[in-house]
Amino acid sequence: MALPANFLDELRSRTPLAALIGRRVKLERAGRIWKGCCPFHGEKTPSFYVYPDHYHCFGCGEHGDAISFLMKSQGLGFMEAVEQLAGEAGMEVPKPTPEAAAAERRRHDLASVLEAAASAFQRRLFLPEGAKGLAYLRGRDLADETIRRFGLGWAGEGRGALAAELGREGITPEMLATAGLMKPAEEGRAPADYFFNRVMFPIRNRRGQTISFGGRLLGDGQPKYVNGPETVLFAKRRNLYALDQVRAGLQADASQTVVVVEGYMDVISLHQAGLVGALAPLGTALTEEQLVELWHLAPCPVLCFDGDAAGARAAARAIELALPHLTAEHSLRIATLTGGEDPDTMVRHHGAAAMRAVLESARPLSQALFDLVCEAVGDATPELRATLANRLDEAAGRVGDRALAWEYRRDFRTRLRAREQAHREAERAARRRPSFGGSADQPFGGSWRTPYPAVPRPQPLSEEEADAQRKRILVAILLAHPRLIASKEEVFGLIALPPALSKLRSAMLEWAAHAERLDFASLMTHLTTLGLADEAGQALAARPSCAAPEAMPAEVEEGWQHFLGLLHRRDLGADVEQARQDYMHHQDKPAVTRLTRLRSAQEALNRGEQGPESES
Ligand code: UTP
Ligand code: MN
Repeated sequence: MALPANFLDELRSRTPLAALIGRRVKLERAGRIWKGCCPFHGEKTPSFYVYPDHYHCFGCGEHGDAISFLMKSQGLGFMEAVEQLAGEAGMEVPKPTPEAAAAERRRHDLASVLEAAASAFQRRLFLPEGAKGLAYLRGRDLADETIRRFGLGWAGEGRGALAAELGREGITPEMLATAGLMKPAEEGRAPADYFFNRVMFPIRNRRGQTISFGGRLLGDGQPKYVNGPETVLFAKRRNLYALDQVRAGLQADASQTVVVVEGYMDVISLHQAGLVGALAPLGTALTEEQLVELWHLAPCPVLCFDGDAAGARAAARAIELALPHLTAEHSLRIATLTGGEDPDTMVRHHGAAAMRAVLESARPLSQALFDLVCEAVGDATPELRATLANRLDEAAGRVGDRALAWEYRRDFRTRLRAREQAHREAERAARRRPSFGGSADQPFGGSWRTPYPAVPRPQPLSEEEADAQRKRILVAILLAHPRLIASKEEVFGLIALPPALSKLRSAMLEWAAHAERLDFASLMTHLTTLGLADEAGQALAARPSCAAPEAMPAEVEEGWQHFLGLLHRRDLGADVEQARQDYMHHQDKPAVTRLTRLRSAQEALNRGEQGPESES
């Protein structure tokens, strides 16, 4: 039975959902939403969430609005539920009108127009006229099975061919225009095809019905992709490419990672490689509606961005968008690709395992946000450091859930302290650098570089713990930037590592000896094949900012030298101190020689030329 859509909207908005559900389920407020134990399956810890306009159970997947809640919880029919709610809301259920019935029929008709177009495009791809398109898709490594599964097609040459073909099924150009397949007639001009000479990607809704299309040029022309216009059925901001397939994929295998990528081809490539949790927005930045949809699929989906400037901007925007909506149960992780790869080229060049490793090493949102703010503000001066602390507090304050905002603030402070600690170590190391123009009581000169006041601060890590952390960091740097292995192989091999890291190092060195290219993706593939993906992921978590994916080679190398220096300097430092004491007491030639030698060893270490030089 057709009820006018605006009546149902009004009915829903007049029904406070939490109050309705709260009659049957004990609900507690969590930020802007409510949660409780799911009435549809037995559970002891709450995973049933009530939002202003719908409910969702993360335990059993039950999902719906006020009407479906009444239907499911009381076994009512649709009209019975509507009448009960209308009674409570003081509304009268309208008699079905011919207009409402006609609107319903039109929506129905529109859907069948799009299905007819999808079949026509698909059929054309396998006809001679579609040969170029088919060759293009096969050339991008798509199997025919994949092409069929995603319903890919060929638009044809345009000039009204689609209208002519579908006209035989009683579909008029006006209907094609309403469905977003033709541009409406303008004065003096006939309706024109929206898509021609393009490979067609049907865009389907969550139930798998075609609601629009994206079309890609075969070559390098512009615009590369064209998407259908907004229609009654198609709202770009509310849908996600491949949502239907992801839902099915997760049902078959709940362990799949839900990952948002940037492009259609990325989605298709990942699905073909078995990563069936991949979906994409529809040619726009991620929207709030899409975020909510994602959280229905998984509590912590990964957003995977290309490693270019556009990708970085998109990541920043997405993080900003998500903050007000975060809860303890709903968050995001951020993965960034490097080396100019996008997910499609990543799986094709390096395989699914490498892509999985990238997803596994995705940063938690809190860390991504911290990195983002640090990068934007910097911390070279006291003023900047004060600004940074303020900005981080501000950013944490944008987290909608109060308790979580507080945790973010605390997390940021811990991270800031760790960062300052690292800076201090760097400064201390720099101060110990030789400078032979000193006075008698400071034979090696005063501190020629003291950007931090020399206030004694508590040492949160013991030297042993600090060393263990430095070792993890060193491994992380070479994992993230394996190119560096080539020149650091020997030193790397000499560091005393605990068993887990040592195993990882052997695999890395073994790989580096034979690999064609020393890049992150192929190293990850290799480690994954050896079953070391988890270890690699854990080690990568210690990656310092100097080894971020986008870091410049010189910066990475400097970072490596810095941490290696810290590790070795402890031993050397003690020797130098001894020699300095000798020099102060004797000031004879052997003491000077010994001190000078040790100093140059330290200098060499600072430049990273060699490992620790033991005194003999
Ligand atoms: P990309 O250029 O990253 O897409 O744009 P892709 O899927 O990797 O493309 P190819 O086929 O491998 O070269 C990401 C998304 O942005 C939208 C499309 O939705 C595309 O999938 N887009 C891109 C447009 O809408 N128009 C454009 O001109 C380009
Ligand atoms: Mn691409």
